[in-house]
Amino acid sequence: EMMKELLGLSTLEQRLQSKLGVTKVIVVSGDSDDNDWVKHEMGRAAVLELNSKVKAKDVIAVMGGTTLAAVASMMTADTKMKEVVFVPARGGLGERVENQANTISAEFASRAGAEYRLLHVPDQLSEEAYSSLRLEPSVQEILALIKSAAVVIHGIGVAETMALRRNSAAKIKNHLSDDEAVGEAFGYYFNKNGEIIYKQRTIGLQLDELDQNKYVISVAGGHSKAKAILAYMKNCPSDVLITDEGAARSLLENE
Ligand code: G3H
Repeated sequence: EMMKELLGLSTLEQRLQSKLGVTKVIVVSGDSDDNDWVKHEMGRAAVLELNSKVKAKDVIAVMGGTTLAAVASMMTADTKMKEVVFVPARGGLGERVENQANTISAEFASRAGAEYRLLHVPDQLSEEAYSSLRLEPSVQEILALIKSAAVVIHGIGVAETMALRRNSAAKIKNHLSDDEAVGEAFGYYFNKNGEIIYKQRTIGLQLDELDQNKYVISVAGGHSKAKAILAYMKNCPSDVLITDEGAARSLLENE
């Protein structure tokens, strides 16, 4: 904490709390756009936060992305973690295997010595196929578990970057740029006012299910994500934002 004071990080945290209206903000030093280890530092902070909130038998829902992969890599075993269950918050979004929520959830569980459950949903499915898949008893069972999550941990991405990375169709990319999408989280894309521009089709947690009963941990850093973080925080729930100095300074510019 004294180190944070010296680096001025506590001041950044307080200013961000009031700018974004988030109860708790944790800022780690550095900029993850410039140095990859900064994601691991955010990961360390996220693991501490997770450990302080989780109770035995809780369900923890996690999203995908490179930031969440870094968070999972910092997870450590803890006695109370042995009884929790990690689940992916939503189904496939077109990510590479290492960035998928399923993979990351399994990684968290393996490092924590906890249980995990997979949600098998192919990335490209018709509306009809989704509707019938949702009714499968095995899918219903995991969906109930996901919806019961006490803690949700997710990343926030830059809209254009995410659509490119997920090989979204040209029609969708055009829609996102025409409607000025800036941020992405949970497969939802937002404009700068935090309005939903587009939602990827998959099952799992819906944004409006992130209610008071769930503790939401948002992890996103790098100066390039400032607008995306701001957009997410306009309307979406977050109990704690874990970010880095690069994103924090960029968010507070022109104030
Ligand atoms: O779902 C992905 C996140 O929104 C952002 O991904 O952590 O790789 O930037 P990232």
